[in-house]
Amino acid sequence: MSQSNNRINSKREGFSSSFGVLAATLGSAVGLGNIWKFPSLTGANGGASFLLIYLLSTLMIGLPVMIAEITLGRKAKANPITALRTLAPGRLPWWLIGVSGMAAAFLILSFYSEVVAWVFAYVLKAVNGSILSSDPAVTLAAFDTLSRDPVQSLLWQWVVLVFIGGILLCGVTKGIEAITKKLMPLLFLLLLLLGGASLTLDGAAQGLGFLFNPEWSKLSASVVLTAMGLAFFKLSIGMGTMMTYGSYFRDDQNIPVTAFRVMCADLCVSLLAGIAIFPAVFTFGFEPSSGPSLVFITIPAVFAQMPMGHVLMVMFFVLTAVAATGAMLSLMEVPVVILHERLGISRSKAIMATLVLLMVAGSGAALSHSTLSEFKVAGLTMFDLADYLSSNILLPTGGIFIALFVGWFWGVDRFIQALSNQGQLSNATVARAIFFLLRYVSPALILLVMLQGLDLI
Ligand code: PHE
Repeated sequence: MSQSNNRINSKREGFSSSFGVLAATLGSAVGLGNIWKFPSLTGANGGASFLLIYLLSTLMIGLPVMIAEITLGRKAKANPITALRTLAPGRLPWWLIGVSGMAAAFLILSFYSEVVAWVFAYVLKAVNGSILSSDPAVTLAAFDTLSRDPVQSLLWQWVVLVFIGGILLCGVTKGIEAITKKLMPLLFLLLLLLGGASLTLDGAAQGLGFLFNPEWSKLSASVVLTAMGLAFFKLSIGMGTMMTYGSYFRDDQNIPVTAFRVMCADLCVSLLAGIAIFPAVFTFGFEPSSGPSLVFITIPAVFAQMPMGHVLMVMFFVLTAVAATGAMLSLMEVPVVILHERLGISRSKAIMATLVLLMVAGSGAALSHSTLSEFKVAGLTMFDLADYLSSNILLPTGGIFIALFVGWFWGVDRFIQALSNQGQLSNATVARAIFFLLRYVSPALILLVMLQGLDLI
């Protein structure tokens, strides 16, 4: 590496403690995916059978790709585009993975920030009690009033974006790391309280049965693709987020162990969210598969009927806001660090530019429930399209190329060396197993699932 590169890298910020690394990485993985996507997708696609495919995708594909990304990021200590340029100079254009990652970040942020916008609005509504009604017709009307109002939709989205941009302005250590270190423990505490409250309800057994009984008849190629897409989305992989965070990892951090912990903790959060939601849903006679609105329509109606419902509901929406904050920080960090390092502009300018671009790019999704509700591409609103394209196409495609890069280009020796922290850890067997998955299993599986799920074979 050249001297000037070294100088840039030595000024680069990073995570300062081992717990900070874990909190930030887990903060990225945990998000709306656990609370808004996981329960409603599981509900709609057959409960435990979906869960099983999701678990397999996470283990066989998600974990190895996550480890690969973090390793590449830490090795290069740069944004995804520069990282791949440095690690693969002059050959095939692997850095395009970074470009597609940036596109994915914008796509995901465009709809994600809108859901977070509703969550933020709901925190206020929960506090003042205006959504506390046991009549789903009333909670539905409350949600419609919010989501169908173009001005409120845009304004709340901007509030969210500026809030996240503000944390990023404080930097990687004092912004991302400091805040996720506080938020992650709070998240687990809130989830345990909520899960515990839900399990005391009459419908607990039925709710858990729904989550843990397989309904194989619902399984299809597109359901498998959805489960795999969820695995990518959940672990924030396939788009350079983990590569970016990897570039902030400490050199003595044990990458496979950290990734494994993040994966397990993330699964726990999803299951706890399911345990908090489904028993309550069944107890009060709601439909489990009512889609993403489960969180905004069903939950308030459910809480309204529970003892201490008001407090629990505030807790639930604060919890969701907390989870979403860590994920949004990592999503926005990708374009910010790319613009900052590639264009040589200051970090604050890069944040401003990203915010402005996002306000424009996100408006399509923000207005999908109001002004643009009739505007559809391939039968999907801009909101649904951004969601579908990112989870089911861009992230898995990014995953294939990351796995191929490590498995066929970077090579086993460099991978083992990097995973062992330059010989400090003796984990060669684990590294070899992960390498095998990356070289053969993950890319082949991803491709197969994508082709089948998209009806191409
Ligand atoms: N993992 C986050 C969630 O579950 C979403 C995310 C996807 C974050 C991709 C970063 C990158 O909500």
